[in-house]
Amino acid sequence: MKVIRVKDQIEGGLAAFELLKEELKAGAKVLGLATGSTPIEFYKQVVASDLDFSDLVSVNLDEYVGLGSESDQSYIYFMNEHLFDKKPFKVSYLPNGLAEDLDAEVERYNALLAEHPVDFQILGIGRNGHIGFNEPGSPFDGLTRVVDLTPSTIEANSRFFEKEEDVPTQAISMGIASIMASKTLVLMAYGEEKADAVYGMVNGPVTEDVPASVLQDHPNVYVIVDEAAGQKL
Ligand code: GLP
Repeated sequence: MKVIRVKDQIEGGLAAFELLKEELKAGAKVLGLATGSTPIEFYKQVVASDLDFSDLVSVNLDEYVGLGSESDQSYIYFMNEHLFDKKPFKVSYLPNGLAEDLDAEVERYNALLAEHPVDFQILGIGRNGHIGFNEPGSPFDGLTRVVDLTPSTIEANSRFFEKEEDVPTQAISMGIASIMASKTLVLMAYGEEKADAVYGMVNGPVTEDVPASVLQDHPNVYVIVDEAAGQKL
């Protein structure tokens, strides 16, 4: 794991953007993307750049069950707003939160991930150490599946919703094994509420109790942290 310390989210977004440019030069064709407040500055850098994604494929980590592109809290809405409307890819995949048959949707997603192995994956981290929506206890060998969100994640994500009852209780998420299959991973974390999760990820034991700790076993991971998120390292 290479830890990169930055002043703030803007500098972190720039650092991640520089890593992306290197990977594109090296031939990356499939980008793994994440939502949440963490990667917003990174997407701003990308949008302001002259990078052209019209020949690239993107694959997102997760989507809430029950939300679609019409809902401004869905991850497809977030991606359209922050990236895809401004920098279209050849094709962009997200799990379909409105799929009637969730098992079939999970199967579809695992098949497309097998067809488009991710070269460069952006990640955030939850306060409890989750990546994607792989909550504590998620199996390290897990592929895409339907997951139940923990009360702490529902509470953390409720800041984006009108009220906590509006937060979906399930999501479709790429599994830990799917995430670990990416050639390069860039995880960003900002703010003191991420400090414990960052410590567990970097210095703690590799355990399913702290899903992000699995990244210690990956050969090519960059962790970008501001002072607050990195204060316990
Ligand atoms: C959600 C997402 C994660 C994200 C995490 C942190 O639960 N599924 O992909 O990393 O929240 O979000 P934020 O970046 O807003 O702190």
